[in-house]
Amino acid sequence: MTCIANKKTIVTPSILRLLFPILFIIVLVSLESCSNPNEHKSLEVESLKDAFEKDFYIGVALNGGIIDQSDSTSLNVVKKEFNSITAENIMKSAIIHPKLDSFNFEMADKFVALGKTNDMHIHGHTLIWHSQLSPWFQDIEDSLEFKSATENHIKDLALHFKGIVNSWDVVNEALNEDGTLRNSIFLKKMGADYLSLAFKWTSEIDPDAKLYYNDYNMTNPEKRQGAIRMVKKIQEQGIKVDGIGMQGHWHLNSPSLEEIEQSILEYSKLGVQVAITELDISVLPNPWDLEGAEISQNFENSEKMNPYTKGLPDSVQIQLANRYKDIFNIFLKHKDKISRVTFWGLGDGQSWLNGFPIRGRTNYPLLFDRNLKPKAAYYSIIGLKEKFDQLQTTN
Ligand code: GLA
Repeated sequence: MTCIANKKTIVTPSILRLLFPILFIIVLVSLESCSNPNEHKSLEVESLKDAFEKDFYIGVALNGGIIDQSDSTSLNVVKKEFNSITAENIMKSAIIHPKLDSFNFEMADKFVALGKTNDMHIHGHTLIWHSQLSPWFQDIEDSLEFKSATENHIKDLALHFKGIVNSWDVVNEALNEDGTLRNSIFLKKMGADYLSLAFKWTSEIDPDAKLYYNDYNMTNPEKRQGAIRMVKKIQEQGIKVDGIGMQGHWHLNSPSLEEIEQSILEYSKLGVQVAITELDISVLPNPWDLEGAEISQNFENSEKMNPYTKGLPDSVQIQLANRYKDIFNIFLKHKDKISRVTFWGLGDGQSWLNGFPIRGRTNYPLLFDRNLKPKAAYYSIIGLKEKFDQLQTTN
């Protein structure tokens, strides 16, 4: 809708008197639409996946209710808007491989069936991760036994989903913030070789699946250098790594756009694709930003740390929309290097960020609100894409 609030109109006083009530209503409506981030012009495309069809997959992480189809409202939005899916939890070892000698494929099979039926790109998350880890890993004392059980874990999963899962997070979160290797159970039991072995074992079973290393804070320069060193070491052994997953759990003001762009450029120099795998943008105060306070103290919920329980102010809604627009501007600029952008959840009400790092907050990190209606951020990235295409055709 065009904003007419600033337009000058020349009229005589008598006409003005007659027209005044009508003009007043028009101006009010127009003012409203200029300041209301929830009003939007009609779009040429019908969905996110249509908008970015030629650029990269647009994905979403699915919770149990969407996967088992009990939440049909969410499922319909997923089908309309997205062409790639990741399981938020049900492919993690604790759920899919609860006991050394038994798997629980029920939900994961539903998840992949959903992707297949709807012709979606299916991403597997995740083969090796120290967290949400099945307890049997901890129970194996002997290193050789541990190694062989880990190999079986990877190979059994890769085989079960061979030709169905298009890409895997082979290893999740193996790095510390300074770029050194996290002292996980895998490092302790198998040494640094576990990384290359994990990629090798997966590719031996499913050579066509695209294999990713995935982590958070991947824009942090020290961690970035660590990830680059790690991937180079794997590549030097003749083992393939197809991509780097930057999780993308970001904030309104950090990381900087420069760091995001720099990271995409540096990772792609490894000859791999970059995926943004778990995108969400928290609008709430970050306890780790508070100086001089014990982190544990900041994990207390309070009005200060949870300021938007009654709704997100328009000013912050606009800030979020602009932040998404700026980030997608970078993604579009480097679309040849980017395989996929996946949001970590569908609607704000379903986001893990309502519970982390402080429980019971009201966060607004995604493109759809608590009623699954598209937010200003949704329109901002589609609008950006429309402008981007117009510029391409005029140049
Ligand atoms: C990490 C993991 C995800 C998920 C999020 C929090 O980023 O990779 O699987 O657990 O944390 O929801």
